Amino acid sequence: MNPPVARTDGFLKADGITKLFDDVTAVDDVSLNVKKGEIFALLGSSGCGKSTLLRMLAGFESPTSGSVMLDGVDITLLQPYERPINMMFQSYALFPHLSVWDNIAFGLKREGLPKAEIAERVEEMLRLVQLTALAKRKPHQLSGGQQQRVALARSLAKRPQLLLLDEPLGALDKKLREQTQFELVNIIETVGVTCVMVTHDQEEAMSMASRIAVMNQGRVLQVGTPREIYEHPNCRFVADFIGQANLFDGVLSLDEPDRCEITTPEGVIHVGHGVAGTPGMALAVAVRPEKINMAKSRPVAAHNLFMGTVREVAYFGSYSTFIVDMSNGKSVKITDSNTARQDLTGITWNDVVYFWWSDSSAVTLSL
Ligand SMILES: Nc1ncnc2c1ncn2[C@@H]1O[C@H](COP(=O)(O)OP(=O)(O)OP(=O)(O)O)[C@@H](O)[C@H]1O
Ligand SMILES: [Mg+2]
Repeated sequence: MNPPVARTDGFLKADGITKLFDDVTAVDDVSLNVKKGEIFALLGSSGCGKSTLLRMLAGFESPTSGSVMLDGVDITLLQPYERPINMMFQSYALFPHLSVWDNIAFGLKREGLPKAEIAERVEEMLRLVQLTALAKRKPHQLSGGQQQRVALARSLAKRPQLLLLDEPLGALDKKLREQTQFELVNIIETVGVTCVMVTHDQEEAMSMASRIAVMNQGRVLQVGTPREIYEHPNCRFVADFIGQANLFDGVLSLDEPDRCEITTPEGVIHVGHGVAGTPGMALAVAVRPEKINMAKSRPVAAHNLFMGTVREVAYFGSYSTFIVDMSNGKSVKITDSNTARQDLTGITWNDVVYFWWSDSSAVTLSL
């Protein structure tokens, strides 16, 4: 007899959901398992199906197939208003003729809550998003960041069990986005609401989410913590989409439990993990630019030591980027944070350099 299976079910479960619009498969057989209290990000480029997936979770779109469960209840066929879910849309359009106070109260009034309770909740929300002093203003009298907080307060006022945010910071410029990311996480954590957010900005997903689902062309390619996805991408797309990666294509030439060798046109690359693959199978090796060391004189490095000529140098303040061309034409990107991890200041255009990385700094990718 099999041992009992532990219940690992999430709070929100999407099971094999697909959405077809005529001949377009906007969402393709997606399964998700979101835990209670987490901030879960759907990350992918424009048109990959993020909003459509979120709209199906909210009930504004019905799946062509598949199901959605919330806290053990099948909600696939429920109307949006029947779900304990609130969604903040990509353009969070506040009512322009209503004050901040009335914008936040809007949904509560529609629910027919007693006046005193509405007032209490609106005041609570205003304190939460620190807009008490601006309660009487109209949206056009607020900054972009303040408008965003009103929209958030409006979404939270009904105390949803699940908060869905579609590009919550999309309307803000870069600097304000970064500040607001922290505020938003603080507010969500204070309330303790489970949150699924959509973004196409990988830094935003990395800094805000406890876990990220990376999407491409309607499919979820990988789900993991920001660190897992960055350090152990499971395919080329994820490695390339999250941060930057140098990819070396080759074939598996040695495979042991804790190490492997990939033979590439650039030479043999040693990787500090096994792949349990078949000798000769095609694999790529991914190495992050910041994990590569570089020097003008030959270093003492047993593995993964290559040479090239510096073609480009770009200084970005806190870090510098070098593009190094190898003799076979392959270009490699190397970055260095300008905090003296290694002094690369002497390296410039047309210098012949050695570059190398440790076995544990690379991962293999099969797709
Ligand atoms: N109502 C619709 N009818 C037909 N096609 C649609 C509809 N809604 C979305 N699509 C298509 O489905 C695909 C996914 O769209 P979706 O809006 O989910 O993308 P997204 O990831 O949110 O993109 P963005 O980052 O630009 O907001 C696109 O090809 C889009 O054109
Ligand atoms: Mg969208």
